[in-house]
Order: sequence, then C-alpha cells, then structure tokens
Amino acid sequence: MSALSGKRILLGISGGIAAYKTPELVRRLRDAGATVRVVMTQAATAFITPLTLQATSANPVHTALLDHAAEAGMGHIELSRWADAVLVAPATADLMARLAVGMADDLLTTLCLCLPTRTLLCLAPAMNHVMWAAGATVANRDTLLTRGIHLFGPTHGKQACGETGLGRMEEPIQLVAALERLFVPKLFAGQQFLITAGPTREAIDPVRFLSNRSSGKMGYAIAAAASALGAEVTLVSGPTNLPTPQGASRINVVSAKEMRDAVLDVVNDCRVFIACAAVADYRPVATAPQKIKKKGEQAMTLVLERTEDILATVSGLPRRPFVVGFAAETENLETNALDKLQGKGLDMVVANWVGGDLGFESDDNALQVYWAEGQQILPRASKLDLAYALLEIIANRLPANGSPQLITH
Ligand code: PMT
Repeated sequence: MSALSGKRILLGISGGIAAYKTPELVRRLRDAGATVRVVMTQAATAFITPLTLQATSANPVHTALLDHAAEAGMGHIELSRWADAVLVAPATADLMARLAVGMADDLLTTLCLCLPTRTLLCLAPAMNHVMWAAGATVANRDTLLTRGIHLFGPTHGKQACGETGLGRMEEPIQLVAALERLFVPKLFAGQQFLITAGPTREAIDPVRFLSNRSSGKMGYAIAAAASALGAEVTLVSGPTNLPTPQGASRINVVSAKEMRDAVLDVVNDCRVFIACAAVADYRPVATAPQKIKKKGEQAMTLVLERTEDILATVSGLPRRPFVVGFAAETENLETNALDKLQGKGLDMVVANWVGGDLGFESDDNALQVYWAEGQQILPRASKLDLAYALLEIIANRLPANGSPQLITH
C-alpha cells in the first residue's frame, strides 16, 4: 500500500508550461490512494483549464481568493487546514519569489501563508535554466529551504524554450514518489548518521590543488534520504555547489586532513557512518607558500605522501558505528570492493563503476552492495532512489541493540 493512501493532497498549479503535466500528476496521486484538491493561479489557467483538473481530481477547482461562492464552501483557511501536504507543481520563479517574501496576493500564496506547521509544503520548480540559476531565484530558494519547504527537482534536460539546462519539472511519477517518501514511517528516527560527500582538495600552492571529479551528488542524496527517514544527519562535505539537504547539518572541509578531523570530532555518538566522499589518497608533501613559477625545465616532480585513511580509522575505533564504505572502481569491481570490505574491517561496502557516464558527476548511478554474508545489486536509477534503496539494506543489517556498536579489537 502506498504511503499516500488516505492522505489529503492539495495541488497548487502556477503558470508555467509544465502545467500540462498536472492531470497525469493528479491521476497518479489518486491511484496512490490520495484525495486531491486543486488550486490554480490565474496564470495557470492560461496553460490548462480548471475543468480538466476538476474532471481528473473529482473535486471543484479553486482559482480565486475573493470568490463568495468558494469562500462559503471551502475558503482559503479551510483549504490550508484540510491538506496533509501542499504540492505546488509547477512552481514558477514568480511563485517562489512571492512565497519567499510572504505575499498573499492570490489564493495559492495566501493558503501557503496560513498552513498549520504539521502540513508539508513541497515545491516542484519549473523554469528556464537561466532563471533557475539567477541570484534572486537562488536566494528565494534558500530562504524557502531554511523555512522547511521540501524541494522536488528541478531536473536537467531540454526545455520548452528550446534550450537545455537545469529547470525542467520532475515527471509526475517522480513527484509522487518524492511525496510518498515524506509520509514513509521514520525508519531511523532520532538516530545519528555521519556521512561524508564530495571531493577533497590537496593544495600544491595557493592557486593549485589535486582533486577528483566527485560532485557530491551521491553523498548528498544519501544525506537527504537519511534525513527524510528521520535520522539526525551530519554531512561532512568537500567543496561542492550543492544546497544542504533538508534537515542535515553540514560541516564544510577542503582537504583530506580537515575531513578526517571533522569526522573524528563527531563520530563518537554516531550509529551509522557512510563514507561516500572521494578522499584524496595522496597529497603533496609540501605546499608551496607562493604560486609556483615556470622555470627552464620541461618537467617537474611533485612528491606526494599518503593521506590518512578516514574510513579505516573509523572502522578501527574501539567504540564505533556501523561502518559503510564506498569503492569507486574502473576494473575488477567485485574483487576490489571485497578487498576493501575485509581489509578495512567494514560492515558494508558499496561499489560503483566510475569513469563512464555513471558514478562521478552524473544524476544516475548503479550500485553493488556487499557485506560479510551477502550482496545486493541496485541497478541504474537516480542517486536519490539508490540512496533510499541503500538505506533500506543498511536498516536490515543494523544490529538491533541501539547505538553505537561496541567492537573489541
Ligand atoms: O560525488 P558524485 O559525483 O555523486 O560521485 C559519487 C562517487 C563516485 C564519488 C561515490 O559514489 C563514490 O564511489 N565514493 C567513494 C570514492 C572513493 O574515494 O573511492 P575509493 O575506492 O578511492 O575509496 C574507498 C573508500 O575509502 C571510500 O569510502 C572513501 O571515502 C574512503 N577513503 C579513501 C581515502 C582516504 N584517504 N580516506 C577514506 O576514507
């Protein structure tokens, strides 16, 4: 049974071309067992008719704040109290701006302003990619995130204007899945998770560094999913451009040493440690104090030394959490992953191919999960979907007796 069964979902539609997908969204929500009511902005009615949404939702559609008949039936206060969740799809840049400053100049913004605290407010942005990246939109998004809204998407792809970029609305099937997750029972309620993500940078001189292609997307997806499942997540992150996942507390680091220090500072009370960061294995022995200048030689030698293995260090702690490592491989995936599982004394290792169109930077990935007595293959999917599937495997493998494990070496 879907977690949306019996839930009351208020779908807000603002004026973007992606509004044409909302009848399918309504149908999918109802198929999942939800009751759906629809509120449209005036601009939305230029893209799709209220009659279509009335037919698909089987409920009257609300479009006006100052409508005597509607207010006598179900007005903005009743609508906001009726809903378990409000999903605004598409959420235009204008709608996000109006929500961010707290305007109440139409029915949709007004009811969002008087939502009870228990009601989830979710936005599925859809706009031209330049608008999505504009400073004003980024600031509005961040303001809304700090107020606890849930952001679904946008995704990257071809846009209605003919350009390609980040700004497409998530597909209805993904929006329903994202909404479902918010209603899933909190599997890890109150449990402390420590997750590393992103690359590290090892300085060569003040302007150059050694690093890798990690974007942080996989680790951030795991942090977002763990947080949605009720965990108290600390995310230790190398340099990325990603927003902090809802509910997670983030510690920014740059080098492998900084990541190690941050991890060791907070690992003590953790139930689960997931090392998804692509940590440098080597760093320059010395960092030049000034920018290194070209000299006459055709070649130069950079002397490197090993960084400390954070994962092995945590795994070797006398009192340690459930330890999950990653293995990024370009050959012999299973053999190398199993070597890491045993060699570093891990509870679980998550292997992925890197170097092609999966692993680093991509929105999708595919994982092979190994532990002492078993394994599970998670085929290609979005990093968020994989994060949920991985966390389910972890939940099934976690020792029942609370936090952290006591390991005697
Ligand atoms: O960030 P994305 O663009 O989304 O890409 C995701 C990813 C490919 C980076 C991710 O899925 C992944 O595989 N992360 C681990 C990358 C890595 O460094 O793998 P590794 O096989 O070199 O390291 C093995 C494990 O040891 C990892 O858990 C790593 O975090 C850890 N390690 C490595 C070196 C070091 N000094 N300390 C460590 O803790």
